[in-house]
Amino acid sequence: MKDKVIVTGGCGYIGSHTVITLIHHNYEVVIIDDFSNSSPQILDRIERISGVRPHFEQVDLKSFEATQAVFKTHKDAKAVIHFAAHKAVAESIQNPLMYYQNNLFSLLNVLKAQQENSINHLIFSSSATVYGNPSKMPITEDAPTQRSSSPYGNTKKIAEEILEDFTNSQSEISVISLRYFNPIGAHASGQIGEFPSGIPNNLMPYITQTAAGIREKLMVFGNDYPTKDGTPIRDYIHVVDLAEAHLKALERLLDTSTTSPLEIFNVGTGNGFSVLEMIKAFEAVSGSPLNYEITDRRPGDVPEMFASTTLAKNVLKWEASRNLKDMIQSSWTWEQNLRSELK
Ligand code: UFG
Repeated sequence: MKDKVIVTGGCGYIGSHTVITLIHHNYEVVIIDDFSNSSPQILDRIERISGVRPHFEQVDLKSFEATQAVFKTHKDAKAVIHFAAHKAVAESIQNPLMYYQNNLFSLLNVLKAQQENSINHLIFSSSATVYGNPSKMPITEDAPTQRSSSPYGNTKKIAEEILEDFTNSQSEISVISLRYFNPIGAHASGQIGEFPSGIPNNLMPYITQTAAGIREKLMVFGNDYPTKDGTPIRDYIHVVDLAEAHLKALERLLDTSTTSPLEIFNVGTGNGFSVLEMIKAFEAVSGSPLNYEITDRRPGDVPEMFASTTLAKNVLKWEASRNLKDMIQSSWTWEQNLRSELK
């Protein structure tokens, strides 16, 4: 058994896939989750897939006392991967205080509890949203960050600023912040995947739910953008590739010879696909036409985002290996076979 790692939000979409990758690489995992957007059944599924049931602690990270207590119990952990956060853009516009309170208090409490228990490595879930509407493609990590159009996006930008100040102030804790592009796809077992509560905000679950008959029709938000077919371009990344990026980041942090206080990496494939290309690719995988309609732009959407992958390749020694067909096929399998069992 290798080192112990605390994974907050380990029952969530990206967290659960990362936990499985970590277990496969013999790490001892402690999941912290409050089930606010996940379910206890995920623990059973992680056990079914990996053969190991991770330690589990149900904790609300907004409480410092509760966070401190669980970090003290697991003070032999070597690192924390902090996924736990609210992530719905539209909800954050409706309820900004809930987002700032949840996403920022939890980060502050995690950092303080790490400091008090000498758990000296952190991987933070950031987002390409910190780039705002970038002027140059592909986006490199040194592109300026911009204020986001949503409180959710802003919590990620502010979190990175907190991490910068924190890592500048003292040398004990080293941090890698991973800026995710657009995670889609599901585990090859078909046992875990994205499980949006209510109406999905994101494209891929909306497509699969439409094809499954849960939604009547996909609304394509605008076809008058300055892109090849007028619909916005995004860098979709397979969630298992994303999980593997966390493994590489962990290995880098634990290898003290390479560690510097704060490092930031894009996690994308470097390829951009438009909304219409995604629909076509989905139709090819599912073998049926998708019901969709072009409608108005969605406020806050930018025309084009795709990552420069050079830094991750050279420094993190990570690059995505799964293609768009793998991503869409696994999302569709997950939607068809097992999603409905999770209530
Ligand atoms: N889209 C539609 N119809 C839908 C849903 C999405 O046409 O029903 C389009 C969007 O307009 C966009 C593309 O599909 O052009 C991708 O949209 P997503 O919502 O899937 O992804 P975003 O790039 O908008 O969102 C991602 C992350 C967020 C992050 C945001 C900020 O999922 O966490 O980037 O840019 F905040």
